[in-house]
Amino acid sequence: MNDAVPTTTPQEIAPETWLIPNMYPAGPDGFIAVNTMLIRGAEPVIVDTGCPIHKELWKEKVFSLVDPEDVRWIFLSHDDGDHTGSLLDALEMCPNATLICNFFIVERLGLEYDLPLDRMCWLQPGESFDAGDRTLHLFKPPIFDGPTTRGLYDAKTAAMWIVDSFAHVVPGEEALYDVRAVPQDLYDETFPMFNSLISPWHQWLDPAVYSRHLDDVEGLGLLTVASAHGSVHTGPAIHDAFERVRRMAGQPINPGPGPDALEQMLAEIAAAESAPDATAPDPVPAG
Ligand SMILES: [Fe+2]
Ligand SMILES: [Fe+2]
Repeated sequence: MNDAVPTTTPQEIAPETWLIPNMYPAGPDGFIAVNTMLIRGAEPVIVDTGCPIHKELWKEKVFSLVDPEDVRWIFLSHDDGDHTGSLLDALEMCPNATLICNFFIVERLGLEYDLPLDRMCWLQPGESFDAGDRTLHLFKPPIFDGPTTRGLYDAKTAAMWIVDSFAHVVPGEEALYDVRAVPQDLYDETFPMFNSLISPWHQWLDPAVYSRHLDDVEGLGLLTVASAHGSVHTGPAIHDAFERVRRMAGQPINPGPGPDALEQMLAEIAAAESAPDATAPDPVPAG
């Protein structure tokens, strides 16, 4: 079991582009990442705002790198809770920031939050915005679990925020920053499961049509790919990851852990309660 979540620190993954890492237990073999990103250019951009349980850690990490007053943009990829955790705090702390979102994000988050319409800009896949020293392009990621999702591509650094795509379990902090540090068997086992859990619609995809979409995204030209729930991919690992999701088109879904896993978790909880030094089992995280 895996009750101790290692401390993680921001990592520069491309020029002035920082991964803001956080992790959550994911079974006996490791953790699932709940990352965000910061582009600290002429007009700093916060890219997603993490999940609620990491709120204080997230603020500490982000604002150790940038003065809240200097943040010019908050890019929200979609309205899932693991990406909106510190959204209200970020808007309040960063008075000069404009929120990059879209109509449906606002419509869906409106059930929960009162967002400032006069501080936002609605952008869709295929559109872009000027962040001073760079143009940031929005695109539809290969894998996604929310209809509002848009990824972000920085043509200046060839770095990409691919949102929920390329999720997998990591064994520890080091593997967050470099996918080559992930044991191959762990990657081979958990990448297909999490990417299928996130996008169960892949079973109905036409492989040829989907392939063209993947070609378009990969064809943007990529040196660094950062994922909210996986390691940073560089070099040949980028194309390999695209090939792994390409193969999912038209294939049966991976249903993930079933009732047996729940029974096992409950048994482990019972065992933990009867053993003072034992710890509770790890929950299976949502995608
Ligand atoms: Fe999501
Ligand atoms: Fe997510």
